[in-house]
Amino acid sequence: MEKPHATEGGRGVRHTALDGARGAEVRFRPDRIDARQINGELVCRFRVDPEATAECRVANVSEFGVGLVAPEMELRHGTRLTDLVLLFDGTEFWRGAGVVAHHAVGTVGVRFTSGLLQVDQLRRGAPKHPDRLGAAELAAAVRQTADLPLPWRARVGDLAALLHALAGHLDALDQDQLTVDEELQLFDGLWESWGGEYVALLTELYASTRDLPEEAIGLARSYASALLLPLLARCDMHRRAWEKPRGYAGDYVLIEQYFDPVPQGATLFSRFLSSAGTRYTLSRAVIGREALLRAALREVASAPGAERVTVASIGSGPALELRRFAMQAEPPLRPMRALLVDQDREALEHCHREINRVFIERFDGQRPFEVEHLQIALRQILRAEPTPESAAIAREIQGAALIYAGGLFDYLPDHVAKRLLQRLYSALGPGGRLYIGNLDEAEDSVWLLDMVLAWHLVYRDEATLRRLVADLNPTPARVAIDRDSTGTCLMLDVRRP
Ligand SMILES: C[S@@+](CC[C@H](N)C(=O)[O-])C[C@H]1O[C@@H](n2cnc3c(N)ncnc32)[C@H](O)[C@@H]1O
Repeated sequence: MEKPHATEGGRGVRHTALDGARGAEVRFRPDRIDARQINGELVCRFRVDPEATAECRVANVSEFGVGLVAPEMELRHGTRLTDLVLLFDGTEFWRGAGVVAHHAVGTVGVRFTSGLLQVDQLRRGAPKHPDRLGAAELAAAVRQTADLPLPWRARVGDLAALLHALAGHLDALDQDQLTVDEELQLFDGLWESWGGEYVALLTELYASTRDLPEEAIGLARSYASALLLPLLARCDMHRRAWEKPRGYAGDYVLIEQYFDPVPQGATLFSRFLSSAGTRYTLSRAVIGREALLRAALREVASAPGAERVTVASIGSGPALELRRFAMQAEPPLRPMRALLVDQDREALEHCHREINRVFIERFDGQRPFEVEHLQIALRQILRAEPTPESAAIAREIQGAALIYAGGLFDYLPDHVAKRLLQRLYSALGPGGRLYIGNLDEAEDSVWLLDMVLAWHLVYRDEATLRRLVADLNPTPARVAIDRDSTGTCLMLDVRRP
């Protein structure tokens, strides 16, 4: 029932004069206590699997959940945390369970699933900021000044100043309401001028960071992120790379953004940064590897033969190469079955929707080839003991003509990469092909990814890639390396006898 209106002269304001919150505040969030306002140390201890207990600092806590400060281990959205204990100066004050509900810059949000927490109690027992003089923050800042060389810090500052100046310029220009074409032209011009300076600084920092001692790298990362993230995070692509909202780097949404011909974003500055995000060498390599994967698909589909062939993409992400292959394919094709394998259900859902859209728009709903989706993670493929999942994947890829992966091996350490390569190679049919992408270092891209966006990759050159397949059994008929047009996406090309 509607409440009666308060009348003029009565108590209370008129309903029509009531106001809501402003800006970001319109989104209601329950009260939370910032750990810095608590006189003592707040720590969270939990398990994600029966063997391993993890512990990390608490950024904030509310009646409904807790924000964890950059946990060491990767915590994906939906991960269940059991034996979750909150400790106040070493003393347990809450125990239960939770689930990873969101990621924000530097924190992971966990929602309690076993019960609520009485925050008032914590607040009452929590005197205001114990460290009013900010001794801990000051000590960290002093260490950064002492341990990081002045020229290195100056270069990070120069980069921040450049971005600040560009943001100021573009914010002013934003009122001009440019058309999409005018904007694209502007971004070309900006990349020529401002981009030149920007890339020169990134390249210089890439070189000078190599001279820093190993123990200073953590400090250097926090220094660089603190100065640059507030600017870069105004761009959806850069922010997504840092925040990793799906719990891991390089999710399908971000990969799709590399292929968007029109940069997205709410402001001109953010759209320019998105455009820049597609222009770094390694971004162009991500775009370039799609063409190589698509060519590999074309080769299989156009090879003579009437028997159905299987191609499999491991870590398929958005599977753009398959979609684009379908958009260009001219039937009749060889009967083919494409198998998309990824741990991320949402990525598979996206692939399913998009490939079916192509089938409807280009083939009147007919399917020029079959597509299947398997939500399986590498650890399930590699498990020593047979499981239903390992059996399913083994059965599905057995005898494949082509097994490929773009943008997956750059996350795998050598020992895992080697085991996976042997497993996939063994599944190939006679004459079958493994086609595996791995990015190599590019001096304009690596520093930003590694030091600012926390996007850590295992870069490999030709020699290190070849070493991964040196012991394959049986000995391959051929091992070669392809490269995309930038030369920085290497494709390991292995043929089975
Ligand atoms: C960077 S994307 C690559 C997308 C695409 N293949 C390409 O060439 O651009 C990496 C994909 O690998 C998947 N992935 C990462 N680790 C995985 C794992 N352990 N098991 C299965 N898939 C994984 C991710 O979910 C993501 O969709």
